[in-house]
Amino acid sequence: MNFKTNNTAPEKRQQIKQWMQQCRASTLALFEGIEYDTFCHQAHPDFSPIGWHLGHIAFTESLWLWERCAGMPSIFSQEYRRLYAADGLPKTERVKLPTIEQTCDYLDKVRSQVFEYLEMAPLDEQERLWRFILQHESQHCETIILVILVGQASRLPKVGQAGCPPHKRDISAPQIAQAGCPPHKRDISAPVDEIIEIPGGEFAMGNDSIDALDNESPRHRVDLDTYYIDRYPVTCKQYREFMQAGGYQNPKLWSDEGWKWLQENPVTKPLYWIDDSDWDNHPVCGVSWYEAEAYANFVGKRLPTEAEWEKAASWNSQTGQSSTYPWGETIPDFQLCNNNHQIWQTTPVNAYLAGKSACGCYDMLGNVWEWTATWFYGYDGFASYPYSGYSQSYFDGQHRVLKGGSWATRPWAMRCSFRNWYYPGLREILAGFRCVSY
Ligand code: AVJ
Ligand code: FE
Repeated sequence: MNFKTNNTAPEKRQQIKQWMQQCRASTLALFEGIEYDTFCHQAHPDFSPIGWHLGHIAFTESLWLWERCAGMPSIFSQEYRRLYAADGLPKTERVKLPTIEQTCDYLDKVRSQVFEYLEMAPLDEQERLWRFILQHESQHCETIILVILVGQASRLPKVGQAGCPPHKRDISAPQIAQAGCPPHKRDISAPVDEIIEIPGGEFAMGNDSIDALDNESPRHRVDLDTYYIDRYPVTCKQYREFMQAGGYQNPKLWSDEGWKWLQENPVTKPLYWIDDSDWDNHPVCGVSWYEAEAYANFVGKRLPTEAEWEKAASWNSQTGQSSTYPWGETIPDFQLCNNNHQIWQTTPVNAYLAGKSACGCYDMLGNVWEWTATWFYGYDGFASYPYSGYSQSYFDGQHRVLKGGSWATRPWAMRCSFRNWYYPGLREILAGFRCVSY
């Protein structure tokens, strides 16, 4: 090989390598004990089989880092390139897959090529792409988890830890959530209906840092009037009141579109609902955007715009600055929020005192994604990266923005400016919401 050498700081190389290794170890752990049938099974029309995602992770890493950056030939045949390309086969044709062993072999081979290249890659020019690849794998792993959950929901009866593979259940979850937090600082009081005033004025929205994905840029000033946002995401206890008051039967609470959706999808509870008061303080999880909208109407509130959500998460009224994470600049860990499928379920909405935002909102990152009122579009001056299919293809007025990340989101794909997007009718994602008052 004849790669051009450069003077990238060795620590930067080391950091990227370590993150990629950590990320990969968690990825492979998801496949422990998985059977080939499950590997190839399309559990939901909107999602490809988990085995496809695994191959696509390897293919994407090879395509961008090995082929495009290093300029080296791919190990994937034409047939496999078509199979694993984002814009290749329709999802229904992604069910005939190489074996688990073969797929892992691809992952390993690509990874050793890419790490060999990393030693001499001009990282100062390429850092954004390497970080993109890390976030790409992170995001596909969340989808893998969704597919596992959906597959299990259709086969297994609902139990205490719905959807969690038995060998991964962790009954000490609520303790873990506050581990490391000194007892006098733990916040164990039951969350109440608290609202927080966010004073009007400008804040910096979006993100131009090297981590930011194309849809987070450019950072821009947004001026908001004073508003009032819930301190916590809507809990199961709160949502139960909506259910018990006949929320799912009352068209007055639903928008026309929402009611139409409900008639076509006659549901009576969230997808990941567990009918047990032990879960009262957990955020509601597995609702469509329409259910969130109906609940907000029920309590006389509304969903926050993305800007309102992001300001409450990132803006510090004292300094006037926005931070990357609600708590500051430290990358998410298990003391700060429920992330990285460590617990494999939600946690009480007040479990992470250390993770609250400067304004006092809890659970802005981790636990559950939060639906916002905003349609997914690029900001003024948007420039697609690394390909237009990443974000731009979804600027179609059909996708709503979700913020914050869930218990299944990896730390690299989680920050106040991060934007996720899905169809408003989708319930399979790990999504809840919080409200703002009029
Ligand atoms: C941002 C999660 C909607 O999974 O479709 C992965 C992320 N884009 N590969 C998706 C993504 C290309 C994307 N979401
Ligand atoms: Fe992808």
